Amino acid sequence: MQNSPKRFTITAALPYTNGPVHIGHLAGVYVPADIYSRFQRMQGNDVAFVCGSDEHGVPITIKAKKEGITPQQVVDKYHAIIKQSFQDFGITFDNYSRTTAKIHHDTASEFFKKLYEDGKFIEQTTEQFYDQEANQFLADRFIVGTCPKCGFEESYGDQCESCGTSHNATDLINPKSSITGNTPSLKETKHWFLPLDQYEPWLKDWIVKGHKKDWKTNVYGQCKSWIDDGLRPRAVTRDLDWGIPVPIEGADEKVLYVWFDAPIGYISATKEWAEKEGKDWEPYWKDENTKLLHFIGKDNIVFHCIIFPSMLKAEGSYIVPNNVPANEFLNLEGNKISTSKNWAVWLHEYLVDFPNQQDVLRYALTANAPETKDNDFTWSDFQARNNNELVAIFGNFINRVVVLTNKYYDGIVPDPASFTEVDIANLTELKAYPKVIENSIERYRFREAQAEFMNVARLGNKYLADEEPWKKIKTDAERTKTIMFVSLQIASALAVLCEPFLPFTASKLKDMLFLNELKTTWGEVSTKEVLIPANHQIGKGELLFSKIEDEQVQQQLDKLEATKKENKVMNASPIPQKDTIQFDDFTKLDMRVGTILEAEKMAKTKKLLLLKVDTGIDVRTIVSGIAESFTPEEVIGKKVTVLVNLAPRALRGVESQGMILMTETPDGKLVFLNPDKEDPINGATIS
Ligand code: 2FM
Ligand code: ZN
Repeated sequence: MQNSPKRFTITAALPYTNGPVHIGHLAGVYVPADIYSRFQRMQGNDVAFVCGSDEHGVPITIKAKKEGITPQQVVDKYHAIIKQSFQDFGITFDNYSRTTAKIHHDTASEFFKKLYEDGKFIEQTTEQFYDQEANQFLADRFIVGTCPKCGFEESYGDQCESCGTSHNATDLINPKSSITGNTPSLKETKHWFLPLDQYEPWLKDWIVKGHKKDWKTNVYGQCKSWIDDGLRPRAVTRDLDWGIPVPIEGADEKVLYVWFDAPIGYISATKEWAEKEGKDWEPYWKDENTKLLHFIGKDNIVFHCIIFPSMLKAEGSYIVPNNVPANEFLNLEGNKISTSKNWAVWLHEYLVDFPNQQDVLRYALTANAPETKDNDFTWSDFQARNNNELVAIFGNFINRVVVLTNKYYDGIVPDPASFTEVDIANLTELKAYPKVIENSIERYRFREAQAEFMNVARLGNKYLADEEPWKKIKTDAERTKTIMFVSLQIASALAVLCEPFLPFTASKLKDMLFLNELKTTWGEVSTKEVLIPANHQIGKGELLFSKIEDEQVQQQLDKLEATKKENKVMNASPIPQKDTIQFDDFTKLDMRVGTILEAEKMAKTKKLLLLKVDTGIDVRTIVSGIAESFTPEEVIGKKVTVLVNLAPRALRGVESQGMILMTETPDGKLVFLNPDKEDPINGATIS
């Protein structure tokens, strides 16, 4: 029996609109939030799942400066890309809004005004960092310095990305302007502060003494430590020209702090949705019976557990979150995902390389979700999850069931004869799974939930392998009918239970089994005697998943390798020029075109090749430090430029009588100063 529907307001962190979204975003926030939202909708609950683009703040203005365009152009470009990616990956937001929308400007301004009028802010003139050269105050990411808490040297003014601490810019050690690199000066300016210290007792009661032990340990631990450290007033306004203008007199050229306006974005996104749907938005934010949940990454914990709840509490008419299931970070092939270093798998690019394989990525990311610690995404794990689990277990089971049903019964579900103990045991086990999966989802353990779902497919595979209908069909037609009937029940259950995790597959499978009209609910998988009745016609087989080949994985690894090389070139600082020499010095050098006649590696060295070189004057021995770049075979017969009048010197007991001239490319590759027109090794010529 269905309980009366519960109301859920589910928010997913608003992504900064200064770049596209990548697998880290998907794994950390959007897939878990989507699994949860889909699951609650499947329970018949009333869900508002909202998100939108976070379009204010310094990262946007930095990007705009870099690209020579306006901040509005930056956010318009990335808002469209991000929105499309979410849609492509089946993230079922009820509304995906943006913080430059009028409804958001109005909502955030009203929220600020209410707090201002109720006397909830402290107005203070303080000294803030100022860049004389850039002629502007340095808010948030415009300033970098050493984190006072963990010593990370590139902490931002408002938050350290390394330890997650949120601080005031003036707390930074050795601060520098990220616009000019200058050490900033201090200049007086007036701002409005939310006195977080006044909310400390309430936060303590709510989080520490309260029932928040059911929050994830990482979330609860961080909150407790901030509260124990003592909270200080936080400025909620900034001296910037991009953002929501502070809506009061005497605040010209000031905007709301992005972390003040962004979480209000959840409220405006709900309002916008409710307006479109003809609903009332208020119960979703003000009714105590609503479960408010924030899905975020760990760097956002303080804002969602301390600052935003204090804002909501200060306003007075809002509920506070029931839970904040924050994830840790996902790394990529052993390195931190980084937008600026292009160390990421971008969702829009993934879809070009793996078209229509959204579910494979959703599956691999959930199987490896950074729920309790940082985790690593590797392409080989991605391939294994697909080939060994989706293809070999789930896909294989469905394929066998559909193919055999078509082959034996023209696609019509057969009438079962009597059930054996094994049949009953399997059907009973099947009925237990919805609750098992539900228990994990309700505790935000999506990896566990998905693994339990995969156990249903394993159950089906084992049942088929044990009962062998392909053998029984020859000897016992009645028994075969029962086996296929039971298998079809398991297949139908899978079509329902996979929906939160693998939504595209769920709809493909439902289409394949012609299940849409049956509208089986999650709960009915446990309670209904028959999920797909005898005489029901199913469709033809179609593979649910296809194998991912080694070459596809290699292609992705090559792409990352190329990124690494590009980064190395970009970061390589050129070796400073040596002191100038006079023309006379230069004419002292005697350079000849020589031919390498013989080459061998020098024993017990890594770098040295022992060469015999015909210089045109004589044949001489030269020891050259090029063994890490070239094999002896590669250089034999090669024409090279030789400095012949360098004083001989002994290297590892061998007298070297000259030097082979080389240069180095920016990525560290050695290149001969080569007189050949066509150079088989370097592919370049020097004239
Ligand atoms: O960390 C981020 O990407 C932020 N843009 C998240 C904002 S969440 C919310 F409060 F809007
Ligand atoms: Zn830190």
